[in-house]
Amino acid sequence: MFPKINFTTTKAYQYLVDHYIDINQQDLRELFAADPQRFEKFSILFEDILLDYSKNRVNDETIALLIQLAKECHLSEAIAAMFAGERINVTENRPVLHTALRNQSDQSVFVDGKDVMPAVRNVLVQVKAFTEKILSGEWKGYTGKVITDVVNIGIGGSDLGPVMVTEALKAYKTRLNVHFVSNVDGTHIAETLKEVDPETTLFLIASKTFTTQETMANAHTAKDWFLSRGAGQKDVAKHFAALSTNTEAVTAFGIDPQNMFVFWDWVGGRYSLWSAIGLSISLAIGFDNFEELLKGAYEADEHFRTSAFEENIPVILALLGIWYNNFFEAESHAILPYDQYLHRFAAYFQQGDMESNGKYIDRNGERVDYQTGPIIWGEPGTNGQHAFYQLIHQGTKLIPCDFIAPANSLNPIGNHHQLLLSNFFAQTEALMNGKTEEEVVAEFQKAGKSNAEIEELKAYKVFEGNRPTNSILLKKMTPRTLGRLIALYEHKIFVQGVIWNVYSFDQWGVELGKQLANKILPELSDDNPITSHDSSTNGLINAYKSWRD
Ligand code: F6P
Repeated sequence: MFPKINFTTTKAYQYLVDHYIDINQQDLRELFAADPQRFEKFSILFEDILLDYSKNRVNDETIALLIQLAKECHLSEAIAAMFAGERINVTENRPVLHTALRNQSDQSVFVDGKDVMPAVRNVLVQVKAFTEKILSGEWKGYTGKVITDVVNIGIGGSDLGPVMVTEALKAYKTRLNVHFVSNVDGTHIAETLKEVDPETTLFLIASKTFTTQETMANAHTAKDWFLSRGAGQKDVAKHFAALSTNTEAVTAFGIDPQNMFVFWDWVGGRYSLWSAIGLSISLAIGFDNFEELLKGAYEADEHFRTSAFEENIPVILALLGIWYNNFFEAESHAILPYDQYLHRFAAYFQQGDMESNGKYIDRNGERVDYQTGPIIWGEPGTNGQHAFYQLIHQGTKLIPCDFIAPANSLNPIGNHHQLLLSNFFAQTEALMNGKTEEEVVAEFQKAGKSNAEIEELKAYKVFEGNRPTNSILLKKMTPRTLGRLIALYEHKIFVQGVIWNVYSFDQWGVELGKQLANKILPELSDDNPITSHDSSTNGLINAYKSWRD
């Protein structure tokens, strides 16, 4: 196992503290003016993905020191440990092997001395055969009709990944309509069931544990609905499949083990779209495209595993994030895709990042005395420009942003894509350069404003600029490119977890709410007033009881 280092005790960190004082006084405009090679130096091309990180508040020394930091934290050993299947998820005593799910090499991957690759490939064969049967119409519903709709019931990692990917790759859609139900709010399943026909609908119950309250409630509601529309118990086998690690619970629910697609406890929920949880993706875009997604992710795994840190996109993205999080005290990080298809990308990595690195206990069991995972948020451009960019440009908070855009649109209509990309390029330039007082005054003068008007208004029109951004330009949104992009972000999160010295692959923080909800549930079963909680919680529960119909 790699050493558990408090990164604030490293030499590199001490140097970075001093170096920060220097860089904090410099402007990005000056950094660009001083170095004509900045773009060449601070950009990385990986396959059809170009990362330009030159618009960051860094110089050669910053990058060298950040890389030294990664080295002092034994990042190479950590990467090797993950890929080798060491039990790096210590608090759950599990390896972390989503990389094995997309391994395209003939290398074995061992867990407890057993090669997991044959089982991984078997499930892929099963996913392929099932996808083909459904798509060809060979698989029939209980009245002999072909399946037209798929409803994936899952939450968190068993929902967000498939939702994000099927939205991102909508242009590659098969004939199936794929729906997703996650929220325990009955509205979600009720509205979805209105759109489907029991005779032609396949339900996928996606849950690693098969115990998650929301998913089981929605699964039972779906089964009751199915049985109440004329289908019998024996018909469940034609309309329900399970994606899970828990065979016992799947069988107890009444799903035919033949219709179970397994995965393993070494696949984290938020890293599971590559596993059987991806069945909804395979059905939505076809198995060949699902396989392309896996291949793209594998290429990113190889890039991450073998590239020098200077040329390694996940490592560089992670180090830049640490630079802003721990030195500039930035609290959040925005992901801004200029691609409508990526409209759930930020939401997906909200779980990916915040559930992984939102931790205050380090790997030594001590409370950290530094900041760990940032708040991840974002919406697609250009919508965001008309909503929250004001604060990014002129607010008091520093918000590092990732701008992501495809060079080619899958819907080349008129000049839409050029309009979109002109905004993509303009935003990072504006955030970097800002607008000086001289520029504002000159503009006003040109527009014929009086000196008094200029004096009154100029401060509002000045942009400080110097706001850091990464630009990620993709050639085109294909399944392969998306696989690459997702895996790059996954590994960024891993690198940050290693340097912050937290366990990135557990999620104990979501347990307390679950436990308390289970405690409160029986208290809601009658109208008796509740006194067992604090006055706020009692008051709210009792108000609810008095109001409910
Ligand atoms: O919210 C906690 C969590 O365990 C996530 O990590 C996971 O993705 C989600 O719940 C769903 O879990 P399951 O797939 O076991 O239903």
